[in-house]
Amino acid sequence: MPNSPIGKGETTVSQETRILGIETSCDETAAAVVENGRYIISNVVASQAAMHAQYGGVFPEMASRAHIETIHQVVATALSQAHVALEAVDAIAVTRGPGLAGSLVVGMNMAKGLALGSGIPILGINHLEAHLYSIWLVEDEAEPNFPLLGLIVSGGHTELVLMKDHLVYERLGGTLDDAAGEAFDKVARLLGLAYPGGPAIEQAAESGDPTAFNFPRAWLEGTWNFSFSGLKTAVLREVRERQPEIEAGVEAPRPGLPISDLAASFQAAVVDVLVGKTLAAAEDYQAREILVAGGVSANHALRQAFQLRAKLPVRVPPLALCTDNAAMIAAVGHWRFLSGQRDALDIDVLPNWMLKG
Ligand code: KG4
Ligand code: ZN
Repeated sequence: MPNSPIGKGETTVSQETRILGIETSCDETAAAVVENGRYIISNVVASQAAMHAQYGGVFPEMASRAHIETIHQVVATALSQAHVALEAVDAIAVTRGPGLAGSLVVGMNMAKGLALGSGIPILGINHLEAHLYSIWLVEDEAEPNFPLLGLIVSGGHTELVLMKDHLVYERLGGTLDDAAGEAFDKVARLLGLAYPGGPAIEQAAESGDPTAFNFPRAWLEGTWNFSFSGLKTAVLREVRERQPEIEAGVEAPRPGLPISDLAASFQAAVVDVLVGKTLAAAEDYQAREILVAGGVSANHALRQAFQLRAKLPVRVPPLALCTDNAAMIAAVGHWRFLSGQRDALDIDVLPNWMLKG
């Protein structure tokens, strides 16, 4: 950008950046242009959800093929909507991991191609870190105060992280089995609801009684870890009791199954544990604020429970920024760029990349 001397060999240090973000870790092909880590100039997301819906989940091979088909168009649209030429961005921030290997590679190769042709630096970004940084994209709000307690709840992860400063983390715990979003997706399938399961469960739960079934809560005392597989099994048990012959996801549940009550009670159990453990960790680590991010943070019951029970400020991104997008990747790119990160063009994807300090 015109007045962004960092990385362009000049002596003045500016905090101003314009970053192109690219995200292909799962089933959204996304690109965005973000200025100063805060202002979304363009944010394009091509979702494959409809394609995967017919199979009840993401098929990795199909996901990467769909990324290949759309990535060029998505990046071109993000740049043109921002009225920005590639040469006018300071860096290309691309998701390096965690995620599906075959999907990550598509975004990474796109970024490398752009970097090679233009000489613009490339920055490999952690997708989980990016979910936390989606909070910084809420323009009108003041910057959060460190230390922050971050809960990242998505289709692949349930992570509790202490964020001590920009780019400085301590991972406190995570799920031992299913991620929260994965549990929503699996239980939705079991109840014959659509994919992705989170929104479908939330909708079914609206007319249900959250106390109808007393589903188990795995508190895993003494740790900051989570477990949702027992809860999923408990829902399956209730379904089988009523329909012994049912095979999860294969056959649509028949009339008579209390879908709304099951959905509401399941959701209440997930929300209870997520909120309870996050608040306890925030108190233990004397966090000043809580950040909740990732696809499951779109859930209204979760948002409401945090607002009701928390004594300290809780920030949750607007719905459009909860699920996967490239603006959040570009937001981290801003901070990584200012910290001096520049990755070599032989940078590889890291499908199992954990968020560390
Ligand atoms: O962050 P995300 O878009 O992708 C990953 O990085 O995994 O999260 C997707 C997950 C899915 O499991 C989806 O079911 C869940 O987020 N999700 C929700 C809601 N909207 C999306 N879960 C509960 N309630 C929702 N409203
Ligand atoms: Zn995600």
